[in-house]
Amino acid sequence: MNQVTSTKLSIPVALALVAALAAILLVSVSPASAKKKALSQDAPVLNIGHRGASGYAPEHTLPAYDLALKMGADYIEQDLQLTKDGVLVALHDETLDRTARPTAESAPGDCTGLVREKTLAQIKTCDVGTWFNETYPQYAQPEYIGLRIPTLEEVFQRYGKSVNYYIETKSPESAPGMEEELLRLMDEYGLTERAEEKWQVLIQSFSPASLQKIHALNPSLPLIQLFSGAETSQSIQARLDATRTYAVGIGPSKNDVDAALVEAAHARCLDIHPYTVNETPEMQKLVALGVDGMFTNFPDRLETVLGKDAENGRKRAAVLAAQASESCRAGL
Ligand code: G3P
Ligand code: CA
Repeated sequence: MNQVTSTKLSIPVALALVAALAAILLVSVSPASAKKKALSQDAPVLNIGHRGASGYAPEHTLPAYDLALKMGADYIEQDLQLTKDGVLVALHDETLDRTARPTAESAPGDCTGLVREKTLAQIKTCDVGTWFNETYPQYAQPEYIGLRIPTLEEVFQRYGKSVNYYIETKSPESAPGMEEELLRLMDEYGLTERAEEKWQVLIQSFSPASLQKIHALNPSLPLIQLFSGAETSQSIQARLDATRTYAVGIGPSKNDVDAALVEAAHARCLDIHPYTVNETPEMQKLVALGVDGMFTNFPDRLETVLGKDAENGRKRAAVLAAQASESCRAGL
């Protein structure tokens, strides 16, 4: 009797044991599962203010950065250009033509053409707010008129160690010395160690050579490899093994992101931060796919999508992302 009872009880116990063992095996052989678990439970989806809150204010101006932070952005993004006299400035385009307008202080030609052919004094005469008011009258503000292009140093002086920066080396092949100057400024403003340990600065580029140069200069800096919209999920996946030798994450175009790319990136402990995601339904779709953050011109919309899962302390969001990445890589 006792033997029969014992046999009956042992079947569910054995089944439970088999299920538990299978679960343990699944987690231990699948880095992607471990990463996803760490990210979903410990690291919030990062809200990256693309050129600041550039949907509402002139891109790469201090008001656009201020607004992004006010709206809940965990990072403010800077695109870098290098002036003729070697100063890093925050501007997306290689030329001044789209966003700069001459002022009474400008000489002819100061506010058109390539940034790398102008001195800082020349480009500081240009107004980068008026174009925005003309292009987006629904968001126009009188105080945007006359805004100037900030240097990276001015951005560091304004925000110091109180915010997270997501900095892109733009067209680095045409701006020799850009990487060294970026690292020098990060050192001067006490951001190097904070980047290494807390992801307070993430450095991004479409150029593998630029990121590999930075990696050679300091292998501890967290780097994000961008991929252009000409790529596909499959072509990006084919480059992930090479990318993970120097980067901690990837920045694909939002249209290239699918479940396979998220899985492949996470399997290599690469975070995935698509750009540029401005509409609520696409934000929701990407969050559901498991991305780790995204660039947006409208940080307030992403904050609403993230709701209670949004990290309120923006510096803490970066720390949690850094810790999740580190623990994933330790488990590989
Ligand atoms: O850096 C992510 C995204 O900004 C890349 O595109 O052209 O806006 O710099 P772009
Ligand atoms: Ca950018």
